[in-house]
Amino acid sequence: MSEQIKKIGVLTSGGDSPGMNAAIRAVVRTARAKGIKVMGIRNGYKGLLAGDIFEMNSKSVSETVNKGGTILQTARCKEFMQAEYQQRGADMCNIFGIEGLVVIGGDGSFQGAEKLANLGINTIGIPGTIDLDIACTEYTIGFDTAVNTAMDAIIKIRDTSTSHSRCSIVEVMGRHAGYIALWSGICTGADLVLIPEKDAPSRNEIIENVVTNKNKGKKHFLMVVAEGVDVGGCDDLAKEIEAKTGIETRATILGHFQRGGAPTAVDRLHAAMMGSKAVDLLCEGKGKRVVCFNEGEYVDYDINEALKMTKDVDQYMVKVNQLLATF
Ligand code: ADP
Ligand code: F6P
Repeated sequence: MSEQIKKIGVLTSGGDSPGMNAAIRAVVRTARAKGIKVMGIRNGYKGLLAGDIFEMNSKSVSETVNKGGTILQTARCKEFMQAEYQQRGADMCNIFGIEGLVVIGGDGSFQGAEKLANLGINTIGIPGTIDLDIACTEYTIGFDTAVNTAMDAIIKIRDTSTSHSRCSIVEVMGRHAGYIALWSGICTGADLVLIPEKDAPSRNEIIENVVTNKNKGKKHFLMVVAEGVDVGGCDDLAKEIEAKTGIETRATILGHFQRGGAPTAVDRLHAAMMGSKAVDLLCEGKGKRVVCFNEGEYVDYDINEALKMTKDVDQYMVKVNQLLATF
């Protein structure tokens, strides 16, 4: 049995996601309940290097479970890719007496966490990204909120699209992954969903599809496009559809709207469980691990192993989407 650790740190890194605060809260409250001091690190690895570190207590996370964004702020820090700065990060942990570190973020942030673990700092990753693109886990904190936000926006666009008998193109986030597009597309009854994991149809094929649906009596054509798909620009595509079909077409890029807002129950729950588990792992003397949710259970893997894993969108889901989109 390893000796009880006395002080841990927590940071958020990369793009923020709804539920990060609920995860920070779980880390802080679980640690405090065990008599462990918690240091909050502002602005991810950037703040670690700058020593932007402060002590947190149970009160520091009051009224945060409902908040979007991250109370610790987040940042991207290019310097941290270099060994020299990683060493400085580990030195900072030692200077502040931080024996274990919880990193809430995506794959990139986990790579940084792995480097710190190699330099002797026990580090635990918690998956926090709206993109759902972390291979080792079926769930990433923020995804459910982002999909619901996208769904609400798309369904409103669908209303006006129907009223005007228009074609609407909606671009959603997801970086190189199509999960937000696929889920929100299915949930809004989109006529066409384009995701980077599948070859995109040509512009002519898209236009044919729009015309076919119109001829079958469809009042609108709703297309959800993942940002990782190169359609030559949604605005440009809209102009070409309109020019070639005579059907009024509008493009909307949902953008950062999808990253904010109060987290859904799903996000809060996963955040609570993952945050608490991260502290439990540190108390067991474990480091270089990432907390995941797979097959209904919270599990943990070696970060190296986790970063090597791959995953793809559910092909059955892709097939069902195609079937349901057929008019
Ligand atoms: P995410 O964590 O959401 O995937 P990024 O890919 O932008 O977001 O990574 C967040 C931060 O993690 C980067 O700005 C950098 O500080 C750190 N990071 C990313 N990749 C590495 C790496 N290979 N080595 C060390 N740190 C990294
Ligand atoms: O990873 C989350 C995410 O919102 C992606 O979906 C998107 O591609 C990217 O971050 C946007 O990054 P930024 O906030 O730096 O524009």
